[in-house]
Amino acid sequence: MPFLSALEGISSTLLSNTFIQLPYPEGDLSGQTIIVSGSNQGLGFEASRHILRLGVEKLIMAVRDPKKGEAARQELLQSTGREESTVEVWLLDMDSYVSVKSFASRAADLPRLDALLANAGLFTNTFIISEEDEKTITVNVVSTFLLIALLVPKLRESASKFNITPRITIPNSALHYIASLGQLDPQNEGGIFKSLNDKEASNMAGRYPLSKLLVVFGVRAFAKQFAQSKAPLVIINTPNPSYCKSQLERESGNISVRVRQKLLARSTEEGSRALVHAIMADEKSNGQYLTNCRVHSPSCIVTDEKGAMIQEAFFKELVTKLERIAPGVTACF
Ligand SMILES: NC(=O)c1ccc[n+]([C@@H]2O[C@H](COP(=O)([O-])OP(=O)(O)OC[C@H]3O[C@@H](n4cnc5c(N)ncnc54)[C@H](OP(=O)(O)O)[C@@H]3O)[C@@H](O)[C@H]2O)c1
Repeated sequence: MPFLSALEGISSTLLSNTFIQLPYPEGDLSGQTIIVSGSNQGLGFEASRHILRLGVEKLIMAVRDPKKGEAARQELLQSTGREESTVEVWLLDMDSYVSVKSFASRAADLPRLDALLANAGLFTNTFIISEEDEKTITVNVVSTFLLIALLVPKLRESASKFNITPRITIPNSALHYIASLGQLDPQNEGGIFKSLNDKEASNMAGRYPLSKLLVVFGVRAFAKQFAQSKAPLVIINTPNPSYCKSQLERESGNISVRVRQKLLARSTEEGSRALVHAIMADEKSNGQYLTNCRVHSPSCIVTDEKGAMIQEAFFKELVTKLERIAPGVTACF
C-alpha cells in the first residue's frame, strides 16, 4: 500500500530525529583517498570533517565555487589539525557535463581512489532546463550517475592494486516515499526523461522527491550490474540522513521553513554521521537504501512490480543518455 509505505517512511524519519541519536563515526580511513562533492557546506562539509578525523590520507573537496571551497578547506584544516596537503579543492559543477567529465579525467590520475561521496544536490521550485534536462534531474540524477560511471574504472583499478572494496554513496531522502509516479510511466510518449522535461506537466514541489526516487532506482540498477560484473566489486548505497538544518531549502527561506527546521531537523553534523556510516559500510549495503545507519526498505513504489518495470525502463534510458554524453562510459557495466 503506497499510502502506508509513505506514512511509515516519513514518520520513521521524523520520529527518529527526536528519539534516535546516530552513532558517532568510528573507524580507520588511513591510507585512503576519498572524494566528497558539495563539501563546502552542509552535510558534505560535516561528513568531510569526520572523514578527516578518521585519518583519511587525501580528501578531495569537489565544489563548484573554488573560493567557498578554499574557505571550507581552511576551516576543516583548522578544526581537525590535519596537514595542509591532506585536503585538496577541485572544481566540479554538476550542472555541466563538461565539468563532470574534466573532473573525472583529473581523478583518473590519482594514485588511488577508495570512495566517492556524491553528496552535491539541489532543491529548487523553479523549472529550468540545463544541459538536456530539468536542472534538478541534471544535478541530482544524470550528472551524479555520470560522475559515478566515469569514476568506476579508477575505483576498480584501486581495488585490484590495493586489495580494497571501493564504495560510492549518494544521499537520499524519506521524501522519495511520497514521489508521484505519473511522469515515470515508461508508456509516456518519448519516455521518462522527456516526460520530466515537460514544463506544463511538472509540479516542481514534487520534483526533489522524484529526483531522490530516481536515485534509489539508479543505485539498485547500478548495484545489480556491479554485482554481476567479473571486475572487483564496487559497493554503491543510498542513505537517508533525515531532515537536517542545512541550506538545501535556501530558495524558500521563509519563516515556516525556519520553524519546521527548528522543530524537526537534525544538525548537519548528526545527519552527516549517516553519510559517513554509508561510505564505510560493507557489502550488505550494496544497492540498499539506509535509514539511521541501517538498511531500510525503500518505498513500496520501488519494490513492487510496477517499480521493477520503472527501474528497468529508467536504467535503459539513463544508459543511453550517459553513452551520448560520454561515449564508452557504460562499458563499466
Ligand atoms: N538537508 C536535508 O534535510 C537533507 C535530507 C536528505 C538528503 N539530503 C541530501 O544531502 C545532500 C547535501 O545537502 P545539504 O542538506 O547539505 O544541502 P546544502 O547545504 O544546500 O549543500 C548542498 C551542496 O551541494 C552543492 N551543489 C549544489 N549544486 C551544485 C552543482 N551544480 N555543482 C556542484 N555542487 C553543487 C552546494 O554547493 P554551493 O554551496 O556552491 O551551492 C553545496 O555544497 C544533497 O544531496 C541533499 O539532497 C539533505
